[in-house]
Amino acid sequence: MINTPYFPVDKLKEEETPLYYYDLHLLDETLDAIKEAAHYPNFHVHYAVKANSNPEILQRIAAAGLGADTVSLGEIRAAVTAGFPAPKIVFAGVGKTDIEITTALQYGIGCFNVESAAELDVIEQLAAGMGIKAPVALRVNPEIDAHTHHYITTGLAENKFGIALTMVETLVERCVKSESLDFKGFHFHIGSQVTDLTPFKILCERINDLQEKFADVEIPWINVGGGLGIDYDNPDENPIPDFKTYFNIFHDNLKLRPGQQVHFELGRAVVAQCGSLITRVVYVKEGIGKKFVIVDGGMTALIRPALYQAHHKIENITTSSDVTEKYDVVGPICESSDVFGTDEILPVTKRGDLIALRSAGAYGEIMASGYNCRPLPGSIFSR
Ligand code: LLP
Repeated sequence: MINTPYFPVDKLKEEETPLYYYDLHLLDETLDAIKEAAHYPNFHVHYAVKANSNPEILQRIAAAGLGADTVSLGEIRAAVTAGFPAPKIVFAGVGKTDIEITTALQYGIGCFNVESAAELDVIEQLAAGMGIKAPVALRVNPEIDAHTHHYITTGLAENKFGIALTMVETLVERCVKSESLDFKGFHFHIGSQVTDLTPFKILCERINDLQEKFADVEIPWINVGGGLGIDYDNPDENPIPDFKTYFNIFHDNLKLRPGQQVHFELGRAVVAQCGSLITRVVYVKEGIGKKFVIVDGGMTALIRPALYQAHHKIENITTSSDVTEKYDVVGPICESSDVFGTDEILPVTKRGDLIALRSAGAYGEIMASGYNCRPLPGSIFSR
């Protein structure tokens, strides 16, 4: 039975806010659900470290047996420290530096997801210098609209990510001929917070077409990226995403070759629902025709509302009074975009109450900043 988050309010009251509270039971149940849904022996799930690299969270995900998807040397180091075996680490990103590439080669990571011809040149040269073969997959831009916020869509021609379909052939040839490159296959990622799953079906069709074009090339694996969305409006009703439907789309629609392996890179769907930002009401302010609840954590603690107009469910976890009021819930930062919600119906709220911003486990703590010289939020865990 799925547990809905239980906030240990008495304990949280003693803590310095803002801070992130992680429900590790829910994380474990989510990891179990992933393993069950991705049970096909040729399916390999990597966790996108960018979503949350809190060491406690990373260690738990590594212990569950997932691989890691990384985008910087810092993330590779965090993944290795948390216990992800290097061969289960993949490395993407449009701007990999020489030192990042060399160190990743030394670690013996599983694959570089290569984003351009220029990057392929550098990886080849550095691997040749070390007398080894670099495992590479070409990140192909599949030109699919993931119907998500334009800041988090990645698979369109206008985006900086991936290699244009028209350029793929030349680069595959180069990989196959190279003494210093070990061609693993193709990598894709269409965008994030994808809730209508049709784009994933379209992705499968694109992949099938692409594979047909390279009938005589050995393609050991296909990496379909991440992107599965979560239910921000109803975190208690849907604490665990529908992993079964998601993985079965790939199982049912990809035309795989014998022995071909499929890799996934899920971030948000793994960790979003297990985390909440806990923040304290500093003032309740009477405005003109409205009331503001001013909390001590703002866009520096959780930037998603300010950056993507995202909405995280807001709850007063101190009081459960039936008497409600309408509030704008805002942070203390000197920016007009520092707003968590407008016209939120909450129990009558007072100074000192604790407010939870739900579904903040992904792209929350990791995107916090020190703007306005504010300290980074801490974290505590359910046991
Ligand atoms: N693989 C690649 C190559 C990616 O670029 C990403 C996310 C993922 C996997 C993981 O995607 P996920 O399963 O988490 O959707 N900060 C934004 C999200 C940015 C996502 C960037 N790439 C947000 O808060 O919504």
